[in-house]
Amino acid sequence: MLALVAQPGHAHTTRIEEVPAVQAREGEVLVRTLEVGVCGTDREISEGLFGIPPQGEPVLVLGHEALAVVERTGYGFTRGELVTATVRRSCGHCLACAEDAPDSCLTGDYSERGITRLHGYARELVAEDPAQLVVIPKSLGRLGVLAEPTSICERALRHARAIGGRQPWQLERALVLGAGAVGLLMTYLLRLAGVEVWTASLEPENDLVEHSGATYVSTQDGDLSELGKFDLVVEAAGNAQLMARTLGQLRRNGVACILGIDPRRQTVEIDGRVLGVDLILENRVLFGSVNAQRRDLLAAVADLDRARERRKPGEAGFRVGELIPGESAAFVRLRKVLRRRVPAARALRRPRPASRSRRRPRFVSPRRTRRARRGRT
Ligand code: BGC
Repeated sequence: MLALVAQPGHAHTTRIEEVPAVQAREGEVLVRTLEVGVCGTDREISEGLFGIPPQGEPVLVLGHEALAVVERTGYGFTRGELVTATVRRSCGHCLACAEDAPDSCLTGDYSERGITRLHGYARELVAEDPAQLVVIPKSLGRLGVLAEPTSICERALRHARAIGGRQPWQLERALVLGAGAVGLLMTYLLRLAGVEVWTASLEPENDLVEHSGATYVSTQDGDLSELGKFDLVVEAAGNAQLMARTLGQLRRNGVACILGIDPRRQTVEIDGRVLGVDLILENRVLFGSVNAQRRDLLAAVADLDRARERRKPGEAGFRVGELIPGESAAFVRLRKVLRRRVPAARALRRPRPASRSRRRPRFVSPRRTRRARRGRT
């Protein structure tokens, strides 16, 4: 059986390789992978910076954003049904994992499909625990490959609401930093919830943002502080300096959520008064969020389907389908990659920016901000 593998800890070892055939054991569902999404985590593994292979094995099969089809009927699943799967699995010995919350694992001994100690979905067949599978409705079809990154956003919002909701808080204005897959999906979820959203990124324009009813802001054209303050700021650009600045962009009782990763060794600046005065006197919070639970994956599937319905040709709406551009390597049609042996390096290259609009950005300011680096999604 062919698979897309990498040797964690060793840069540029990603390749297509023959791996042992998979047999579904008693209690497992056999699924055939159709597509896998490729995100910053996959690139980090490919660059030798992240990931752990299963114990005693030299390579790790990649692929944690999966769309698969059930191969054999059983355990509540029917042959031909589309499915996706959770990424993180219990460590087996902590309170959080015992409470079905491996996303909050207290030991770090968890495993993650395609990332940590567990092979992923970038291979022809996978034998999966049915409890980790979630059905993708036919109406969503191929877009089901977006369920995992959307679940990351759902989890982050669930936590933001819990943190914000510890005191009276109204989520009216939100700022999303970064317009990669996670930034765009977060924008869509917030718009579905009726929140007024500004999404900022490096590109001059982004019609996928604008069509959802959010306002796109190019960081090349202005200073974000001119946009005012927000109840929620989400950092999905992977820039530690931007992360530090989010605290200063919050309204009273505001919540800042960090989803991007910036592994560079550096010192970032934060205005002492924001930390020493505003944070306290205005009850502001900055928190990080990783991974998601099964319930977040279910919410993600339902919301993606709602977003899909809100698109009429020629009209504004959530153009979810366009998050998967036809030739984008960010979503690997697995069979094509494995069979035609598309070079792994190409399969993992950075996707092109989503925007194709020629319209001028709405937000123009004479002052230029320092360029934010586009990061992992
Ligand atoms: C995945 C998460 C995972 C995280 C850390 C992300 O790319 O989407 O599910 O927990 O990487 O490994």
